[in-house]
Amino acid sequence: MKIAVVGTGYVGLVTGVSLSEIGHTVTCIDIDLEKVEKMQKGISPIYEPGLSEMMSKNIEESRLYFTTNHTEGFNNAQVIYIAVGTPENKDGSANLNFVKQVALDIATNIEKDTIVVTKSTVPVGTNTIIKEILHKNLRNDVKVSVVSNPEFLKEGSAIYDSFNGDRIVIGTESKEAGDTLEEINRPFGVPVFRTDVKSAEMIKYASNAFLATKISFINEISNICDRLNANVEDVAKGMGLDKRIGDQFLQAGIGYGGSCFPKDTKALIQIAGNVHYDFELLKGVVNVNKKQQGLIIDKLLERMPDIKGKKISVLGLAFKPNTDDMREAASIVVTNRLIEEGAEVTAYDPIAVKNAKHILSSEITYSDNIKEAVEGSDATLILTEWNDIKSIDLSLFSTMNYPLVIDGRNCFALDEMRKHKVEYHSVGRPVVSEELSGVLN
Ligand SMILES: NC(=O)c1ccc[n+]([C@@H]2O[C@H](COP(=O)([O-])OP(=O)(O)OC[C@H]3O[C@@H](n4cnc5c(N)ncnc54)[C@H](O)[C@@H]3O)[C@@H](O)[C@H]2O)c1
Repeated sequence: MKIAVVGTGYVGLVTGVSLSEIGHTVTCIDIDLEKVEKMQKGISPIYEPGLSEMMSKNIEESRLYFTTNHTEGFNNAQVIYIAVGTPENKDGSANLNFVKQVALDIATNIEKDTIVVTKSTVPVGTNTIIKEILHKNLRNDVKVSVVSNPEFLKEGSAIYDSFNGDRIVIGTESKEAGDTLEEINRPFGVPVFRTDVKSAEMIKYASNAFLATKISFINEISNICDRLNANVEDVAKGMGLDKRIGDQFLQAGIGYGGSCFPKDTKALIQIAGNVHYDFELLKGVVNVNKKQQGLIIDKLLERMPDIKGKKISVLGLAFKPNTDDMREAASIVVTNRLIEEGAEVTAYDPIAVKNAKHILSSEITYSDNIKEAVEGSDATLILTEWNDIKSIDLSLFSTMNYPLVIDGRNCFALDEMRKHKVEYHSVGRPVVSEELSGVLN
């Protein structure tokens, strides 16, 4: 198949590369010239395990191309995927400007019958709008079918997920277009679920809202565990053994971030509101998450009420491990607050520093070495559970000015921490401390 993919973010690039890997000829189109020039040379603009290698291989084997030119990219494409961003509007709704622009670009450029596939996460009813834009602006003799094919990849394991996903959802009113999409995806060997367009659009939002609910739920439980001196990790394990509950997405921490859950939960509240339904449960999920992101600062200030001039090291900046994505990362809320309170912040992240520098306060000092970041500090905050952070030699904390460690991701086993001279606060687990020395100032 000859395929075009519009938008080369985390979804578009991974989609394009994966489709080329299973044998299709794919042209990826993006309006960002700098990005396209990089990709033409085989350089991935994002960090995603395995992506660069697969990208270079398929470029070499002449199955993968990149361009900024929509006319060139759409030339002879039998199927066009829309994978541009749908960021959040001020009122929480999804901004569809990029998607609508692509629909117009497609309509004014294609000269042959085409299947248009929406991969971007879009509110229920958007594919109908896309269809209207296409039909209004297409040449009379050209026909298009529209398919909703939401994406479920997880950043940090996106390539793996393409080949090992739980399901591929195909929503369309055209049996023929649905069959073609199923055929395109067959080599992935992932189960396909077919439905109508609106239900497919809703499956994506409902799935993300449910996962976000699990996270906020366990975080609420962790806050109660904190007060009762119970261990949320054991609670989650005990819950997860029940197959009806499952053990995934029950890790307590400082809340969800990233480019999907925060915006998709708010968008679903809006989607419900548009049909006069008050999605109370999801509003609670969003509020709990907001509160949870500030938890680590609350814990720090409880132990050290005045952090003005204090040296605070921050380990991990990306919204989760194995990605350089800083969108809606807890580190934004946390470091802003630290700087506001007058702390001297040294931050470490193995991959996300380049992106972090564009988003976080310019007053932050960055270190490319965990040891250097931690040594001599008055407190260490852990915000992302990167493997290299989880595997540090715990005796490093004894090189701090005072060994106060506040871990927002429960990176270390309590028994291990007990072997070291450290005051260790985590999420929903008992505090580890040999000698609590009162309020620190
Ligand atoms: N990131 C994820 O983990 C994830 C997972 C599932 C679904 N989604 C959804 O997929 C969509 C894309 O997400 P993303 O994170 O890849 O976005 P992104 O913001 O990382 O990338 C979007 C890309 O589209 C390009 N673009 C914008 N307008 C264009 C146009 N007219 N023509 C060509 N290119 C254009 C931008 O330059 C950018 O490179 C969103 O709707 C998102 O909600 C994302």
